[in-house]
Amino acid sequence: MDLSCLCSHLGWALCVLVLALLLRTRRKGSWHPRLSPTDLTGKTAIVTGANSGIGKYVALDLARRNARTILACRSRERGQTALEEIQRATGNPQVLLRVLDISSMASVRHFAQQIRQEEKRLDILVNNAGVSGLPFSITSEGLEQTLATNYLGAFLLTNLLLDIMKESAPARIVNVSSFTHHQGTVNVKHLSGQEKIKTFNESYKNSKLMNILFTQELARRLQGTGVTANSLNPGIVKTGIMRHFNWLLRLLFGIAGIFFMSAEEGAVSTIYCAVSEEAADITGKYFDSDCVLVLPSAAARDPGLARKLWEESERLTGLAEGSSM
Ligand SMILES: NC(=O)c1ccc[n+]([C@@H]2O[C@H](COP(=O)([O-])OP(=O)(O)OC[C@H]3O[C@@H](n4cnc5c(N)ncnc54)[C@H](OP(=O)(O)O)[C@@H]3O)[C@@H](O)[C@H]2O)c1
Repeated sequence: MDLSCLCSHLGWALCVLVLALLLRTRRKGSWHPRLSPTDLTGKTAIVTGANSGIGKYVALDLARRNARTILACRSRERGQTALEEIQRATGNPQVLLRVLDISSMASVRHFAQQIRQEEKRLDILVNNAGVSGLPFSITSEGLEQTLATNYLGAFLLTNLLLDIMKESAPARIVNVSSFTHHQGTVNVKHLSGQEKIKTFNESYKNSKLMNILFTQELARRLQGTGVTANSLNPGIVKTGIMRHFNWLLRLLFGIAGIFFMSAEEGAVSTIYCAVSEEAADITGKYFDSDCVLVLPSAAARDPGLARKLWEESERLTGLAEGSSM
């Protein structure tokens, strides 16, 4: 690692640590899943990336509320371990595993087709799966790896499941973003690697900004359908999200982890958007880790940018040639 790269890594780490401390001391935590009476008997929910971290606790909560809970995981083995754990903890036999590699549009299409064939309804879709710290690379489908995983896969999956969600309305779509979207920018040429991202973890921040822009445009298009779409920041959470970082950053974050939220705490704002009575009629909004409505960055509120991103995403994922919208 050269000196400028190391400084950018350390600078980034320092910013996140300061933010972690601030957020930790600012946590109000007024809403708690265990105080919410929402029962999901007869409802179906999908959580992507449900085998670890925030996604696993979200799936656990939905299963505890008796939802038919579909864990969408790329590894059958890791997914099966999570499934057994959730079934044991909740006693809900309606917890299922379906394999999904969200970075592959072919896998997303196969998964969506399977859901449309097997499921009668879909009430909650939580787009949670994500990666951070990956070096620049292009998938076999010509998409930038981090943007494909964190944004394009969720974009395609959501669109392919919209019909069944509209038929099941009221239904909710929840997109897990991040406070790091504030440092993100959108250049649609990054999606296919036509222009290369240069600074460390820029793709991650950009993908989290895209999550919010996608949510805004989706909510606009879904007006009057009974399907809502919201995005949120889970906070700074001690999970496996740092696994692709170098040893020095992993060590720093490991030490600072005592200030971070647990994965269970980090799941709260996602669960709030998915099940709370308070959020039932809210759409197109962004919530912070205390489940409070906040304004995202100015870029995240730019409708023109959201539309441009949508159109380019439609083209890149092939949705434009046979979409459900
Ligand atoms: N932790 C934080 O501080 C923080 C802060 C802000 C936002 N977030 C967001 O929270 C979400 C969950 O992250 P986390 O912190 O819980 O991290 P995590 O423990 O690493 O969980 C990420 C999940 O996404 C899955 N995933 C990754 N790539 C995938 C792919 N190609 N296909 C399907 N699943 C895939 C992972 O599966 P594998 O086990 O197979 O890798 C894992 O289950 C992410 O969207 C992240 O950006 C986290």
